Amino acid sequence: MKNDGKVSRRDCLVLLGAGAAGAAATKAGFAAPLATPATNSSQSFAQREAKENAAEQASRERRMKWWHAAKFGMFIHWGLYSLIGQHEWAMDEEGVPIPQYERLAQHFVPRPHAAREWARIAKRAGQKYMVMTTKHHEGFCLFDTKLTDYCAPRQACGRDLVAEFVEAVRGEGLRVGFYYSLMDWHHPDGARCATDPAARKRFVEYTHGLVRELMTNYGKIDVLWYDVDWPLTPEQWESVRMNEMVFRLQPDIIVNNRNGLPGDFSTPEQYVGSAQGARAWETCMTMNDSWGYQRADDNWKSPKTIVRDLVSCAKGGGNYLLNIGPRPDGSVPEEEVRILTHVGDWMSRNGETIYESEPVNAGYHPYLDFTRKGNTLYLHVYFWPNGTPAAEWLPFFDPRTVVAVGGLRAKVKSARLLVSGQPVEFRQDDISVQFTGLPALAPDNPVSVIAVECDSEPSVSELYVRTHRKRYNVGVTRS
Ligand code: GLC
Repeated sequence: MKNDGKVSRRDCLVLLGAGAAGAAATKAGFAAPLATPATNSSQSFAQREAKENAAEQASRERRMKWWHAAKFGMFIHWGLYSLIGQHEWAMDEEGVPIPQYERLAQHFVPRPHAAREWARIAKRAGQKYMVMTTKHHEGFCLFDTKLTDYCAPRQACGRDLVAEFVEAVRGEGLRVGFYYSLMDWHHPDGARCATDPAARKRFVEYTHGLVRELMTNYGKIDVLWYDVDWPLTPEQWESVRMNEMVFRLQPDIIVNNRNGLPGDFSTPEQYVGSAQGARAWETCMTMNDSWGYQRADDNWKSPKTIVRDLVSCAKGGGNYLLNIGPRPDGSVPEEEVRILTHVGDWMSRNGETIYESEPVNAGYHPYLDFTRKGNTLYLHVYFWPNGTPAAEWLPFFDPRTVVAVGGLRAKVKSARLLVSGQPVEFRQDDISVQFTGLPALAPDNPVSVIAVECDSEPSVSELYVRTHRKRYNVGVTRS
């Protein structure tokens, strides 16, 4: 949602105690939502996590290995709302009456195997897994179910779109993820379940039943991505029982934190998280401002912004789940294809700096960012420094193209331009390392990478510069 300072819909849900952990995201930072998640559970995530035993932690490590290495995934928001083309919240935000909204099911007839195009695009973009909305808040199931007729195979579409999706994703050798919204605007018990015990029982059985079908009918599923747990607490959803069922059916799966339990990873939404102890996280983000197809939304991020966000995620040890919102026929808006193609070209040259990378202990730098693998530090230069007039007066900036990093806490052994392998000269003292002999123009686009081999695990501390730099007398004493 837009960060315009107003109370957003998500904030409202949080205030109402809706409890999706991602909804707890504050602009203040990432630590807050993790430390004090907005959940109406009586126990905090931290309390629940503390109870985990070593076996559970070992299981998580095993199950999440591929995901940590993968770093980059595709999110897909697709459903009846795609026909309206005004964001996936249209039904609620515009107050569309259910009998009218249901008519969309008579017109949602995507072209066969549309997901194959998405999978090809994802593969080319360097994305390693795909997570699709099997049922969004609107309540329409894209999969075959015995529990409701409000599903693609029993409406005009006549096909199981989740089956098509799974086949397409596996066809490209990618990992399969299912998004599932607990909140349901269509089911008769979807709201009254909060106050009517019989309705709650029915609705929870319905919900568990749909999740069971998803976990049973499509072979091995790699990710279960719950969303918004309004209006029940995790206890009322019987989330523990739900997850136990999921793990019984899919022993290798990973689940997120939006059914009110900590799950395997947190889900900062529309902002990049940062390292937070051992807790895994995945930033999910739109390419414009909408998850579902929004035909008038032209607020596209540039490929450079996307690459920078991906780098920031990798730097903080997180993943990046980037959304597409296909049209109702399943075609992907051209702008999304264009952006992902650019990103994919960059990934084909620089993917080694992202996949399997490890968190970097480094702060802000004004024209570059960092990723790391072992003792190799990757400098991702997004504004290529060149030709500063200050070079005339400051030997520090001579030659005219110098990439400098203050506070690097490791000794540099060698450096090279990643795109060409060309060795890069450098000079280093206790405070700063300067890379020289660089081309005047950025060697890659939209971000150029210098790979720096260090003698130990590199970290970068501007505080070190501030506290250890040589200081002189008060006032200007040199000419
Ligand atoms: C929120 C929104 C939803 C979107 C999701 C993606 O929960 O309600 O529309 O699916 O975020 O993270």
